[in-house]
Amino acid sequence: MKILSIETSCDETAVAILDIDGPLENPDIKILGNTLLSQIALHEQYGGVYPTLAKREHIKNLPILLEQTVKEAHLETRFPSIDLIAVTSGPGLEPALWVGITFAEELGRKWQKPVIPINHMEGHIWSVLFEEGKLELPAIALLVSGGHTELVYIKDFGEYEILGQTRDDAVGEAFDKVARMLGLPYPGGPQISKLAERSRVSTRQVDTLRLPRPMIHSGDLDFSYSGLKTAVLYKLKESLDIDKEDMARAFEDAAIEVLVEKTRKAITERPEIKTLIVGGGVSANIHLKRELEKMVSQFPEVTLRLPSRLLSTDNALMIGLAAYIKVKKNPEILNPPAGGQTPIKAEGNAKLG
Ligand code: KG4
Ligand code: ZN
Repeated sequence: MKILSIETSCDETAVAILDIDGPLENPDIKILGNTLLSQIALHEQYGGVYPTLAKREHIKNLPILLEQTVKEAHLETRFPSIDLIAVTSGPGLEPALWVGITFAEELGRKWQKPVIPINHMEGHIWSVLFEEGKLELPAIALLVSGGHTELVYIKDFGEYEILGQTRDDAVGEAFDKVARMLGLPYPGGPQISKLAERSRVSTRQVDTLRLPRPMIHSGDLDFSYSGLKTAVLYKLKESLDIDKEDMARAFEDAAIEVLVEKTRKAITERPEIKTLIVGGGVSANIHLKRELEKMVSQFPEVTLRLPSRLLSTDNALMIGLAAYIKVKKNPEILNPPAGGQTPIKAEGNAKLG
């Protein structure tokens, strides 16, 4: 099945064409075309993503990327032989989401192809299917991005139950905000990670910088990251000569320890699970990966699956793959109702399940 997918939920415009077949646990995926334009450099000056600017850029970028992707896939440019168009409908920035949706629906009309909405977080979950190996369910997914921090129970493909989530900031957002306090550019996650790793190889003691581990003993699977960011601010106010590398490490140690301990609790409570899936931009974090590997090694029946670095942050490949799963589980969505296709709506706060 050939799927054209479009992602515009935040500051990345992305288009892909995948040819996918085979079982959901281990699909046979051919990437025919894949393009992405990041707006990071443009948003950097605002220290975060500026929605109206993102919208303008998506409008400008989408036609260019579509043309490139179709060419890359060696398909006929006017009426490419695809089976389906998939577009991210949420969660994300609504003005940005609408650009992708409108574009996808216009293509659908022009090419007479079905268009289906995809939840961005489902994309992050299934990114791990691009890696080798059969994926066994049930699973738990730890979703960690700029907008989300969630533990999700996956009973079967398409069946999700949120076990816990952040009550305020997302962990990626905390990385970005702390980076800003340390005078580092946006997005802050990779910057913090680099500094923290340098501090770890040094022989310096960082005990005096130790930060609280918010909600680590709360007894549930929820998170909170806004207090941790404030704790960093207080430390920075206390003393003028705090080493940035050490501060980054103290923050990262605290932020990651909570993620790992809550995930351990989730696995302990659901002993039937076979796989721990990690998804979202923060899954690229090397310290998180190391600590999760250690934790999961204590559960011999659980396999840890992380996406490759390029698939951890936003892209259109993951949207195409999530669309394949949706169609396989609900084949009827390929046959639109008699009155034509129901218009797709952007849902900034779309939930899984
Ligand atoms: O999934 P994503 O690309 O976009 C959203 O859906 O939000 O995630 C972006 C987030 C940003 O907050 C960024 O700082 C964070 O992922 N991030 C990282 C790393 N790489 C990206 N955080 C920590 N360590 C990293 N290496
Ligand atoms: Zn994302």
